Parts: sequence; structure tokens; C-alpha cells
Amino acid sequence: MNLHLESQRSLNRIMSSLDRSQLSKTDMAVFEARLNTEFPRLFELLFQLYGHRYDFYYYLQQLVDTLAQGYSQRSRALKNKDKKRLNEPHWYQSQNMLGMACYVDLFAGDLVKLQGKIPYLKELGITYLHLMPLYDVPKGDSDGGYAVSDYRKVNEKLGSIDDLKTLAKALEKAGISLVLDFVFNHTSDEHRWAMAAKEGISEFTEFYHMFDDRTLPDQYEHNLREIFPQVRRGNFTWNEPAKKWVWTTFNSFQWDLNYSNPAVFNAITDEMLFLANLGCEALRLDALAFIWKEMGTSCENQDKAHTLIQAFNSCLQISAPAVVFKSEAIVHPDEVLKYIDKQECQLSYNPLLMALVWESLATRKTQLLTESMRKSFAISNHCAWANYIRSHDDIGWTFDDAVAQKLGINGNDHRYFLNQFYTGRFEGSFASGVAFGENPSTGDCRVCGSLASLAGLESAIQHNHAQNIDHAVKRILLIHSIILSIGGVPLLYSGDELGLLNDYSYQQDINKKHDDRWVHRIALTDSAILQASHPQAAQYKISQGLHHLIKIRQQHAIFGQAETQILDCDNSHVFVFTRHNSEGKTLLVLCNFSEFEQHIDSKIMDQLYDSTGKDLITQQDIRCSNGHLSLLPYQAMWIV
Ligand code: GLC
Ligand code: GLC
Repeated sequence: MNLHLESQRSLNRIMSSLDRSQLSKTDMAVFEARLNTEFPRLFELLFQLYGHRYDFYYYLQQLVDTLAQGYSQRSRALKNKDKKRLNEPHWYQSQNMLGMACYVDLFAGDLVKLQGKIPYLKELGITYLHLMPLYDVPKGDSDGGYAVSDYRKVNEKLGSIDDLKTLAKALEKAGISLVLDFVFNHTSDEHRWAMAAKEGISEFTEFYHMFDDRTLPDQYEHNLREIFPQVRRGNFTWNEPAKKWVWTTFNSFQWDLNYSNPAVFNAITDEMLFLANLGCEALRLDALAFIWKEMGTSCENQDKAHTLIQAFNSCLQISAPAVVFKSEAIVHPDEVLKYIDKQECQLSYNPLLMALVWESLATRKTQLLTESMRKSFAISNHCAWANYIRSHDDIGWTFDDAVAQKLGINGNDHRYFLNQFYTGRFEGSFASGVAFGENPSTGDCRVCGSLASLAGLESAIQHNHAQNIDHAVKRILLIHSIILSIGGVPLLYSGDELGLLNDYSYQQDINKKHDDRWVHRIALTDSAILQASHPQAAQYKISQGLHHLIKIRQQHAIFGQAETQILDCDNSHVFVFTRHNSEGKTLLVLCNFSEFEQHIDSKIMDQLYDSTGKDLITQQDIRCSNGHLSLLPYQAMWIV
């Protein structure tokens, strides 16, 4: 079959019956032009997913209707934004980009009060704000908002859809791109689709993966991971009203959607366009690795998961092209890379860099970081990493065991060591952290804790140990100096800019105490802000140091669109990379991961024109002596 020809035929038929009254003549022309370009790809993707079904054409037609409606409901301002972004597709690669992720309630109280925080964000240089999921959720535990009951309703405690729209406009005016979550792997068990499924209405039981008995679940289980083994074993939950087993990868109240059903694809596309039309410029694709299930596999990172995401991307190109996707794939590094493509996810979290920065801090060695980045940092120059050090989630040690093996490191042993180190069980560790998701069958676990606590500030303050406090502050600035220079969008996690410490009060909260990730989901209080203004406080040094680095980043184009090259270094404590841009400029970055002074061969300066340079952070010329260049404990240099 000639798919291209079939796609043309289908499009012609669909267009002949499309309701044109909803769009003005000029809008219709834009919509049709985009469809003509994009439809062949969309058709091919959907054909791979659903072409075997007798009702394929019905769903295709319904989808185009949804896309037309989504486009017609897009405001004039957002349509202009679409045009603007199509003319500057690499906007997210600018040196001015700086992201922050925050919970509306913990950061500001609610959506209205958040507007009052815009000056705070601007002062810091934030241009991208990810608001943690703020949709309607079940009362009690809602997995921090990731169990969505209604994508079109804001959680009452945070405000209303109108508040969100107003905020989006205010952010736009302040030059800050709004980023929202697209939680599309699952809904809460209180979503109207799930409620209808509980009643046994077949249209909706088919929205989820539901089973009469354990036969199929048991077969699937053979190859599945457990994500939250501390709260529930296995991946399925018995639902009494429906009298069925339901697939629930995460918590029992989060029901996985069934994307083998084209009705689910169409329904979720409709929700996605609603979110796009609120005025966000990026959607964070939550738990995207899990969306396609295939018997006999791990049901993660399946080929058809990619097909689905590309199809969603294609829908956005038609109806809301200003919006980009950010991949949240916290999986093996080779799999993380597969989601990154102009036609799939333009942005992606960089969980490997995140994990290995912590690994290097613990070991004081940079070989695993260097080798791993040499293998996995390069991505399409149309795309960008979101480089982060902490997020609202736990830290998982997702490095490639084969890379570790080559360096003589046993992956399992090393993960065990890192877990011991960051939960403070390893003698001499500077870290205060909490073990998370311990699996009694495998002994596996992950780590929780705020950036500052994991970097040693909590314990140093407790012991009132001046040198340890100094080291913790230096570690915090060192790791920020990497995400601010390595290439991509640096993504701060709210509270880290002030060095907030672990908050253990969740252990008293019945809805939170079983989920230790709350230890690092911390309210940003006025007193924390005030504390960071006392020049004696460690928090002051963190905040000032960070501001300083951000200002430098904004002033030099080399931090924006420029190639990154990871270099080997003759000193195993030092991480080295360069950036080169099309204007022939070079930046050389050196990071000392040890608490002792380190020397490296001065030949490293040959990376620069004339072999001379100045460190932008200290504003000092680089001097080498006896063929060596010296770095102070935990020093980072940005040399141009
Ligand atoms: C993502 C979120 C995490 C959540 C999970 C289920 O991984 O980051 O917080 O628990 O998805 O939605
Ligand atoms: C697992 C998942 C990741 C999720 C996390 C939540 O690591 O792979 O997607 O964010 O669990 O704890």
C-alpha cells in the first residue's frame, strides 16, 4: 500500500466534510497549510498504531475535528506566538534561558499570590517556570498532583483556570515561559473516565487496562519493574466496584491509560490542546517511558511509545506549534536519548548528568562522569537538555553499567555505595538524605534529600563546623556551575537557590509519610528568604554565588548556542569540557570535585586561542606555573 497516497485521499475526504464555520478564512488557510505539510507524517504514525482496526478512518476524522477545534479555540495572542516561535525554533538554546520548577503552594501559596513572586523570579533571571501539576486531584494523597482527576480544572486550593490564564499572561509579559505537566500515562481513579469504567461502561473500561482475573497480569508481571514497592507490591490493583484488576504502574489510585485504543489517543489530544491553549510554551511529558504495554517486555521505552509521542508532537505542529515537549524519561541513558528529536521531544531532562554529578561529589572522581558524558551528551542541535541537579523526585543511579565496567566499577556495588553514601550510612559521608522505594526483593533503593542537605550543609550546620560549611557551599556552587555552562537549559529546583535544608515534617502527615520525596518538597518561607540576606549565613553565600554565575551566563553568547565537547583530563578529580560557537569563540570549563587543591597539565590551555585566557568567575587571568594550572578546593573555572 502507498501510505502517502492513502494519506492524501484520507485528508481530502476529511476536509470535504470538516466544519469550516469555526475558523475565519485566514485562520482556515493557516490550518490547511499546516495540515498539508504535517498530515502525511501524522497519518503514517497513526497507521502504525491503529491501521489494523476497521474503524481507523473514523478516529482519523474525529482527530482532525479535534485539531481544528483546538486551533479555533487558540487566542489571537497565542496564534501570534506560534508564528514567532516558528521563526525562532531554537529559542530554548539561548544563554538567557534559565528554568525553575516549583510547587504553586510551597512557592507562593496560590496562583494569584504567585503573580506577586514574579519580581523575585526576574531578579534571579528565570525565563522558564515549570509549575508542578496543579490540576484537580483526589483529596489526601495525590502523588504530589500526578493523579489528575480533571485536566481542565485547577486544584481549588491553588485557584481557578482563570487565575492560571491570568498568570500565564503576566509571565509572558515578564518574559517567562510557562511550563505545565502533561500527565498522560495515567489519570486518577476519580477522573470521569475512571468513574465510568468503575460502573462497567465498556467505552470507558477500554480506556484503561482492566482484567477479570490474574492470568494476564501475572504474565505481564514477569518482566515489570516496581516503581513504588514501599507502598504496594506489583503493578496491578484490584478494583472492587469494577470487579477487575487495573494496571497501576505508580500508586493504586493512578490508572494507566490504554493507548492501544485510538479513542484514548483522541481524548488525550483534546486535553493536551486545552493545556496548550492556556498559554504554556512547553509541556513536560510525565512518565512517558511507560505509555505502551507489550506482553513479554518491560513495558518501558517500547517502539510504539515513541510512535505515540511523535504523533502527539505532530498534532501540536498543526494546532499549537509554539509548544514544545520536554521528555521525562528517567531510564537507561541509551533509552533517554531515543526520545530526543525535533519531531518527538525537543527538550529532555538529563538524568545521567544529574546522577553523575552526585556520584562525582561522593567519590571525588570524575572518570565515570567524563566517560558517560562523552558517550551520551551529544544530541541533535535542534534540541536541548534540561540540565538539573535536583527535582521533586528521588535520585536514581541510572548510569550505564557497561561504561562503569570499563572503568573497573561494578554497577550494582557502586549503586549500593551511592545509596549508603547519600543516606549518611557510609562513614565519613557529608550527606543527609533518606532512602526511598526500598525493594525488599531486590534490595534496590533510590535517594531523597534537598540539594543543600545532600551536599553536606545540613550536617555541617548541625555540628557548627566552619570548614564543612565552607565545603558544602563550595560544592553547591560547583555543581551549579556545571548546569549553568554545559549546554542546554539549566533548571533550578525552587528553594535550592537559597540552600534550603530537608524538611522532615512530612513524617507527621498521614498523607505524606509513606512517600519520602516530601523531605525535599519544601516551602519557601519569608524567613528563608530573609536568612539568605545575612552576609554571615551560608545561604547568603549560596544565593550570591549563584546570582553571580547567572549574570555571567547571561552576558556571554558562548553559553547559548554552542557545541559541547567533553575532554579527558590528566587529573582524575577534575571534570573538563569546552564550548565552541559559530563565531569561533571558545569557553573552557574546569571543575575540581575534591576538597584539595588540584593541578592539571597547562596544555589544557591550548584549547583556547593563543593558549591564554581569563576566568570569568574570578575575573583573573589564568597563570600556569611549572607547566601546571592549579584549581582550589571545589573550584570551577569558566575560561575564555
Ligand atoms: C513522574 C513524576 C513523579 C510521579 C510519577 C507518576 O515520574 O515526576 O513525581 O510520581 O511520574 O506520575
Ligand atoms: C521511577 C520512574 C520515574 C519516576 C520515578 C518517581 O524512577 O522511572 O519516571 O519519576 O520513578 O519516583
